[in-house]
Amino acid sequence: MRDNEILSRINALVSEEHELRGRLAAGEVTTDEENARVKELEVALDQCWDLLRQRRARRGVGEDPDNAAPARPVRSRTTSSRTPRPTAGKPVAGAGGVGLPGQMDIQRIDLDRPGDLLAGLHDAHLEAFAHLQGPRMSLPDFTRMVSRGLPGDLLEAWAVVEDGVVVAGYGLELPMSDNTHLGELRPLVVRPERRRRGLGTALLAHAADRLRSAGRRLLVAEGETKDPAAGFARARGFTASLGEARRMLDLRTADWHRLERMLGEAEARAGGYRLERWIGAAPPELHDDLVLMMEGMNDAPQSDDVDDMKWDTSRIAASEALDSEFAQLTYSMLARRDSDGAPAGYTRVYVDLAQPDGWGRQADTVVLREHRGHRLGMVLKVSNLLWFREMEPDVERIITWNATSNAHMLAINEAMGFELIDEWNAWHLDV
Ligand SMILES: CC(C)(COP(=O)(O)OP(=O)(O)OC[C@H]1O[C@@H](n2cnc3c(N)ncnc32)[C@H](O)[C@@H]1OP(=O)(O)O)[C@@H](O)C(=O)NCCC(=O)NCCS
Repeated sequence: MRDNEILSRINALVSEEHELRGRLAAGEVTTDEENARVKELEVALDQCWDLLRQRRARRGVGEDPDNAAPARPVRSRTTSSRTPRPTAGKPVAGAGGVGLPGQMDIQRIDLDRPGDLLAGLHDAHLEAFAHLQGPRMSLPDFTRMVSRGLPGDLLEAWAVVEDGVVVAGYGLELPMSDNTHLGELRPLVVRPERRRRGLGTALLAHAADRLRSAGRRLLVAEGETKDPAAGFARARGFTASLGEARRMLDLRTADWHRLERMLGEAEARAGGYRLERWIGAAPPELHDDLVLMMEGMNDAPQSDDVDDMKWDTSRIAASEALDSEFAQLTYSMLARRDSDGAPAGYTRVYVDLAQPDGWGRQADTVVLREHRGHRLGMVLKVSNLLWFREMEPDVERIITWNATSNAHMLAINEAMGFELIDEWNAWHLDV
């Protein structure tokens, strides 16, 4: 069984367990019948989790997860087992060397058969951001970011190879369903030892050309508010748009009693709503609800000159499928109003199955407008966190991104104990 199949099975077993408890409460089954079936379900669930952990452990040391055997549990992940760096400093097969930036050879990466060039760009990306705190991007996660957008969006990637090694490059995303005036760098990187020789400037000029020839006028990039990103961005004429910040919650030192108390207080204000939760890709019957949630995310502070994202069920289905395909495991919760079942809010935490490094990533928390003011944001985030901690005991830290002007979200995060790591900007350049 592959990860998706194991997760579907886990979700089915968990639903059956809930259903059984409901039937017991309704007097439809006896306690003995319920106990016997719950025991079977627990054994089956344990086997699924063991298999999933084995697959992760194998992936974590660069082995084939399909060799994992269901019956032999492997102990959970360790922070020391890391995905091997695929082409760290290794020559790229068949790639020609180039000389000075003036004669630079910028090669297009074939995103249908990315191979060594994309792996080399990933390695350059790891080096370029090695000075930052926070999780490192695994090759699958990076591949997804650079090569796979939502349906219709255009993606391209370019690399500079010197002495057979990818020393710099960039990915570019051109949205097609909305924001057709812009392109986004994902991102532009130069290996530290190759900096201040004009490589960044040359790649930026190349990206601006690509944008202009696609009839677009705005280049968007994310970078720290500190050097080198800020120095480079200012020197090349970018302006700082939306301010963003990364925060981290250390699960090893978090105040769990306080979090549970906060949840109790918030729940007392959130009467009339119930929570649903699932692991991995959302089942299709939730896709309509998720369209509303992702459109609700457009209410978060946004850069000037960037339009709302448009969502439909095919985009939701594609995005869920991409998470699974690129080994991103999600723990999701949806709040629903009891009276009419209306979806009200949503939150999700990710773990990267390809990189057992002890990090989880918080994403996409939203409460739709008509449901705000009931503490649903706090209920969703804290409930999801408590559940996540139970399911993923090896995760040590969770990272989250927010606009610095998102006062409501920041108030929740700070109350939960998230601490500032660093500040970023969305940088804009008119091309
Ligand atoms: C930002 C980055 C791409 C710049 O690459 P680079 O090849 O060194 O850039 P260039 O040599 O073309 O630099 C052009 C100008 O930017 C400015 N600049 C670049 N790095 C700087 C730094 N560390 N501090 C201050 N200014 C800097 C300078 O004005 C420089 O001109 P100069 O060298 O003549 O003084 C590189 O440092 C990097 O990969 N950083 C990490 C990834 C990142 O933050 N990417 C940007 C977000 S998309």
